[in-house]
Amino acid sequence: MDFEELSEILTKNGQNQLAAHLATLDQEMSAKLAVQLRSIDFTRLSKLIDAHVLNPSDADVPEMISPAPYFPLKPLDSGQESLYQDAERRGRELLDAGEVCALTVAGGQGSRLGFDGPKGTYPVTPLKKKTLFQYFAESIARAAEKFGSPIPWYIMTSEVNDADTRSFFERNAFFGLNSEDVFFFTQGTMPAIGMDGKLLLSARGSLALAPDGHGGTLLALRKSGALDDMRRRGIEHISYFQVDNPLVSVVNTLFIGLHALENSEMSSRALIKAGPNEKLGNFCLIDGRLSIIEYSDMPAELAEKRDPDGRLTFRAGSPAIHILSRSFVERLTEDGDLRLPWHRAEKKVPYVTPSGEKIVPVEPNAVKLETFIFDAIPKADRTMVLEAERGKEFAPVKNKSGVDSAESCGRMLVERDAEMLESVGAVVPRAENGSVDCIVELSPRTFFDSEDVETYFLKNGRAPNVRPKEECYYE
Ligand code: UD1
Repeated sequence: MDFEELSEILTKNGQNQLAAHLATLDQEMSAKLAVQLRSIDFTRLSKLIDAHVLNPSDADVPEMISPAPYFPLKPLDSGQESLYQDAERRGRELLDAGEVCALTVAGGQGSRLGFDGPKGTYPVTPLKKKTLFQYFAESIARAAEKFGSPIPWYIMTSEVNDADTRSFFERNAFFGLNSEDVFFFTQGTMPAIGMDGKLLLSARGSLALAPDGHGGTLLALRKSGALDDMRRRGIEHISYFQVDNPLVSVVNTLFIGLHALENSEMSSRALIKAGPNEKLGNFCLIDGRLSIIEYSDMPAELAEKRDPDGRLTFRAGSPAIHILSRSFVERLTEDGDLRLPWHRAEKKVPYVTPSGEKIVPVEPNAVKLETFIFDAIPKADRTMVLEAERGKEFAPVKNKSGVDSAESCGRMLVERDAEMLESVGAVVPRAENGSVDCIVELSPRTFFDSEDVETYFLKNGRAPNVRPKEECYYE
């Protein structure tokens, strides 16, 4: 497509300012910008701009909506108990057979944390200050060792942080993992759109682009060759988690096994929400199909609704932990054009004017459009939800301070490790309110689960007696 055609397309689709701007640039800059512009399907984009920027309407709330059923944390009867035992066994078999991989979405911009760099390079552990990536890497390495088969790790980055993420792993020798078992792939981008529907520039010769949301994972898996790589390696099940949650079990035997036994295509963990406004997606049945309604789209009256026993009616929240069957991802993306719904978010996006003046807005000035991976759930033929224990699976680092911060995450890591130690007879000092009164940190490279803690202390003598305020690291 030559410049003239490109200008025509821009003008026809409400971006005449870009056509005019292109004409003012020198050859090198205009060629660079033209490459970006040519990769955009403007007919489709202008429809999105119309629907989500110029004429946005509130998210539709479906009429037929009810809370979603889930498998409880503890089995309710003997039938369920034996199902969980079978699932646990099946999960181990699948790991043993090398049919499971890990997938981390790490393409986001971490703007709430105010950290300038890939979020995975953020230090989280209380004593050794291990980063999120190191923590997952060590846990994956130990799980692979324990189950006797490699657990390939697929990491989704975005254009913004791909190079920094790769060099972080290289500088750290992949934290002991075999580099062939770590596969980086980059998600797609979407242009940031000004409130007037015009695309913004980040520099005179470049559009302001943002990651297209973790819904982009699915197509990016196909386009990058990651799906083919999985098939080659005999991977059937993908253990999916977010880069912001170091407490997650990177591969969970019960969850994987239940996913397989239930023939589920996409399975999810659920947490009992701490309150109606906790920022978690909500598991719902919409017209009988399992779906997640994002916290920001959930009508207040539904979020606050209570059962006669006082519990929240929509109490199952999503910690964003899933298992996807590889065949499901293949089916969804087979024509290379998966359509998930777009969600809008108003953001502050720095931009330059056509003359090159840099503007840093103080109020949201743009709409970013993203797709969400959990919108694939209703497309699955079979689904499954399993409750998770918050203190064992979920300690996200999202904010600088307060709720879901590095500080709260560090505390939860200590609590979890203290409980593991106590479960093998260690004495851990606790304050009057029950909180742990020392700092303990277990290396995930040695301790994948409480079975590992037990073996370690059996071999190395007695479980420890930790003194108040003491700092203890075990590896
Ligand atoms: C997210 C979930 C929410 C869930 C909560 C649990 C969304 C939209 N919502 O909320 O349902 O209950 O986590 O903690 O995800 N990411 C990418 N590429 C992108 C955008 C995000 O890889 O384009 C990754 C981020 O790196 C991060 C994760 O997705 O690992 C979550 O993104 P974020 O936007 O922080 O979602 P939350 O609002 O925290």
